[in-house]
Amino acid sequence: MRGKRILLGITGGIAAYKIAFLIRLLKKSGAEVKCIMTPASSDFISPVVVSTLSENPVGIEFWDKNDGTWNNHVEYGLWADLFIIAPLTANTLSKMANGSCDNLLLATYLSMRAKTLVAPAMDLDMYAHATTQRNLKQLENDGVHVIPAESGALASGLEGEGRMAEPEIILASIEYHLNRAFEAILDRRSVLITAGPTFEALDPVRFIGNHSSGKMGYRIADELSSMGAEVILISGPTQQKVRNRDIAVIQVSTADQMFKEVQKLWPMSDFGIFSAAVADYKPKEQEIKKIKKNKEELSIDLVRNPDILKWAGDHKSNQQTLVGFALETNDLLENGRKKLISKNLDFIVLNTLQDKGAGFGVDTNKISILDSHNNLEEFELKPKAEVAKDIVSYLKTYLEK
Ligand code: CTP
Repeated sequence: MRGKRILLGITGGIAAYKIAFLIRLLKKSGAEVKCIMTPASSDFISPVVVSTLSENPVGIEFWDKNDGTWNNHVEYGLWADLFIIAPLTANTLSKMANGSCDNLLLATYLSMRAKTLVAPAMDLDMYAHATTQRNLKQLENDGVHVIPAESGALASGLEGEGRMAEPEIILASIEYHLNRAFEAILDRRSVLITAGPTFEALDPVRFIGNHSSGKMGYRIADELSSMGAEVILISGPTQQKVRNRDIAVIQVSTADQMFKEVQKLWPMSDFGIFSAAVADYKPKEQEIKKIKKNKEELSIDLVRNPDILKWAGDHKSNQQTLVGFALETNDLLENGRKKLISKNLDFIVLNTLQDKGAGFGVDTNKISILDSHNNLEEFELKPKAEVAKDIVSYLKTYLEK
């Protein structure tokens, strides 16, 4: 939910008191929350509580009677990633079903570009009434998702169906719908991932390599594939296995082999996530026979390997999104920024061996992400599977911008 913009509409029912808990849950999950209230709802929950908890001004009227400021319903409609109306009274429901527009909340509903969810709350007979049920059906036909009312004790003293769903249930529904929107972005999009080390042979038995386990790239591949993306993973030598059988894995050993595959596949990919720890140099000559220890000193000439990520950045179209990694021992941010620019990346995942539990050969990682809009976000130390989720979630937010 990090960075998600949730617009919460509150209408005038007893259940409005529970909205304070919903706002807290949304804020705790990292979402940005703005609220619009119908004038009647302020009899049930104070706008001061709503604005304090949401950390934003509350919209109630079309314009402020004191200073004439206009509350722009169109802006609300463009701002939100998701619109939730809770509680939804029978009165607002009926107006929504018929296109009425006599308050700010209703005007915003009609201007809304994002998915709208509603959590109705009313007395059992009102909820069961054919008119209410017809109006709810109408909203569903209009593309609104209805979070059904629950059964239980009602404000009238009666027992039955009509209680607003609990804030935890509403939160789960919001998360589900946001993820579905994400999956739609990734559905059948092709992602090219590089992972693991490269081994540069010195002779038939020895090589120059590094300690990369490949874990980060493999977990990102799993995460993206489970969200419907078509993933091709070009992997250097590693013990890792993909968990999702739909992922196409191409095994390579050297930087040259990895480069050849990337040259073939990058032009037809939508996203590239290049996490491989490619050896920057390879031996100039590869001995055909095993090198014998017949000299006191041995020098090996090395030549530069192709910079695979830079090639992809140089051949990136406007429709493609490219993500790189940087492992630094010093000046993390400065070096990361240079790589972001020189390799024409959309964002770069930075990590440093100085952070305990981060980097090569361990199960955890501590990353920060720097993007081409110069936003920097720092994450906690986490298992690599969770770091993969953070990276994929950042990709989503980046694509939506
Ligand atoms: N990379 C690549 N091909 C190379 C070297 C690096 O594709 N020959 C990619 C890595 O997969 C990573 C990013 O470039 O996404 C950064 O790699 P890194 O080794 O940190 O940076 P370099 O560009 O090699 O710079 P330096 O080693 O000088 O820090």
